[in-house]
Amino acid sequence: MLRLTCTTTRIVHPGSLCRVTSITGPCDPNHRSPTESQLFKSIAQFCAQLAPGVRRRKTSLFKDIEHLVRLAVVMAIALVAFVGLRALVVPHSFGQYGHYRGAAIAEIAARPAAFAGHDVCEACHTDVVDQKKLGKHVVVPCEACHGAQAKHADDPASVKPSKLDTAVTCARCHEANSAKPKAFLQVVTADHSGGLACDTCHQPHRPRIEEASQTTPATERKK
Ligand code: HEC
Ligand code: HEC
Ligand code: HEC
Ligand code: HEC
Repeated sequence: MLRLTCTTTRIVHPGSLCRVTSITGPCDPNHRSPTESQLFKSIAQFCAQLAPGVRRRKTSLFKDIEHLVRLAVVMAIALVAFVGLRALVVPHSFGQYGHYRGAAIAEIAARPAAFAGHDVCEACHTDVVDQKKLGKHVVVPCEACHGAQAKHADDPASVKPSKLDTAVTCARCHEANSAKPKAFLQVVTADHSGGLACDTCHQPHRPRIEEASQTTPATERKK
């Protein structure tokens, strides 16, 4: 293993894996330099430990291994607990299609629809449709203003849509806001309506006021 040439060949442990057969230089105890002597001592100690039948003192690399063992045990328990808990807590269908619960798709699809769609409304409320066709609100679907009305559409006799507050409904789209496209008609509702409900002057389904002279806004219309 370790081969040094030396005048004296002192460290030979019979049966040991380590065998220092020779050391270079003047390694006679009387002529050794301090460093050489230290090296010599260390090698001798190491060889002595490896020799069979030698009761090793606990001066090895793993002298205080107990604390490492404890740490390893704690980490192993934590890993097992994590894997176990994860298996318990994570739903079965998780990851079926992607990073979400696969079963959620069927669950959501099974929920009753909240919106009926404007075609359904129009089948019954033909008068409103006729009005709406004449104005620019033709592009606005019923439920954009009246809210989700699938329940009413299913059973109009017992479920009635609640009355709308135009100050909220109309302002949601038409309240002046510099973030909106300039081309979209906007008013500062407080100034424009003077506190009146929008449908005092505007027919909600056909909002253009044909004879503007008859109903003037509280303030001049904003350009
Ligand atoms: C099956 C026919 C039918 C369908 C579909 C229907 N409605 Fe109606 N709706 C009615 C009837 C009938 C009334 C009148 C109820 C009453 O006055 O008792 C009514 C009343 C209303 C009212 C007025 C409630 C009030 O205050 O008097 C609104 C608003 C309304 N429907 C909106 C809608 C919208 C929006 C839809 C589409 C999601 C819709 N309706 C679909 C039959 C229908
Ligand atoms: C721009 C918003 C808006 C849209 C779009 C809209 N409505 Fe209305 N609707 C109103 C407002 C506001 C009222 C008056 C307040 C109320 O009744 O809640 C009203 C009233 C009604 C009424 C009560 C009676 C009447 O004719 O005034 C019915 C019925 C109605 N809407 C049905 C519909 C249907 C059906 C559609 C789609 C074809 C529709 N609305 C689209 C805003 C709207
Ligand atoms: C969901 C959004 C939305 C709501 C809510 C809404 N509007 Fe509109 N409104 C529009 C759109 C879109 C237009 C058409 C804009 C265009 O074509 O330039 C419009 C146009 C108008 C116009 C101009 C009509 C014309 O012929 O020049 C008036 C007035 C108006 N709305 C009033 C109202 C009133 C009053 C309410 C409340 C009852 C209301 N709007 C609710 C979207 C909305
Ligand atoms: C006192 C009557 C009156 C009331 C109340 C009123 N308006 Fe008007 N509004 C008018 C008149 C008149 C015009 C100009 C004629 C037109 O464009 O239809 C107008 C125009 C508009 C326009 C078009 C603006 C443009 O630049 O062409 C919008 C949008 C509008 N109003 C929304 C509303 C909203 C939203 C409310 C409720 C907060 C409301 N109005 C309340 C009378 C009124």
